[in-house]
Amino acid sequence: MRHAQVMVRQREKMLGIGQLVAGVAHQISNPLDGLQNCLKRIGEGVKDDAHMTEYVQLMTEALERIERTAKRVQAFARPRGITLKRTDVNHAVESTLQVLGTDHGTDVQIETELGNVSPVQGDPYTLQEVLFNLCTNALVAMPTGGTLTLRTYALGSKDEDQMDCVAVDVSDTGVGIPRAQLEKIFEPFYTTRAESGGTGMGLGLCRMLISEMGGRVTVRSALGHGSTFTVVLNPADKLMPVSEE
Ligand SMILES: Nc1ncnc2c1ncn2[C@@H]1O[C@H](COP(=O)(O)OP(=O)(O)O)[C@@H](O)[C@H]1O
Ligand SMILES: [Mg+2]
Repeated sequence: MRHAQVMVRQREKMLGIGQLVAGVAHQISNPLDGLQNCLKRIGEGVKDDAHMTEYVQLMTEALERIERTAKRVQAFARPRGITLKRTDVNHAVESTLQVLGTDHGTDVQIETELGNVSPVQGDPYTLQEVLFNLCTNALVAMPTGGTLTLRTYALGSKDEDQMDCVAVDVSDTGVGIPRAQLEKIFEPFYTTRAESGGTGMGLGLCRMLISEMGGRVTVRSALGHGSTFTVVLNPADKLMPVSEE
């Protein structure tokens, strides 16, 4: 019960923060347009001055960075209702990999092991978004190459609660996560990647979105060897009769 309460609290916190951040990102985008237009004019005005042109160039790049961050945060944190429907997890994995593309730099292999799994209760687009985020994190964790593996499988029937649940593992062979940080990484704004544009919002949102689907996200990791994030979702059939009330 305590755990459930903690999860509800965390979810509320994330929802609030998500909305706040999306709002702020939106507020930032608007004046940014104006700034970029003005800067273009200024650039034309000073194009004979090499020094000034360089400053304008630097400012243009900085503004573009702000714009990218704002867009990313907006796209991910936008509060959008989740409609639960029968969701094919394998299909979500395949779409995610398509969006992810194939160009991941040095020696990154991508492997899939798709089990014969039943439909889950979820939102296909949001699930894809979550998997995409986990994959992006995994790739960043392997700067010198490694293997990203996506695996889907049905959970055993040992535990009543887990019966017919479907899991997706997103595993990497990257840097790993220190034991003491394993729960912290889900907290909003926790990031060790601030200098490369990390916002620390990814995992918190992943966990919130998955819990809105009635599922959960867990992690295990061995420092220096890699990490596995597991998304568990309920079978589509389990709660479907309830919605007929
Ligand atoms: N696959 C992974 N391997 C190692 N560390 C990870 C992995 N995924 C997440 N992390 C850690 O968790 C932190 C938070 O992740 P996230 O919420 O996605 O924010 P961000 O990616 O913006 O830093 C990361 O900064 C990193 O320290
Ligand atoms: Mg991330």
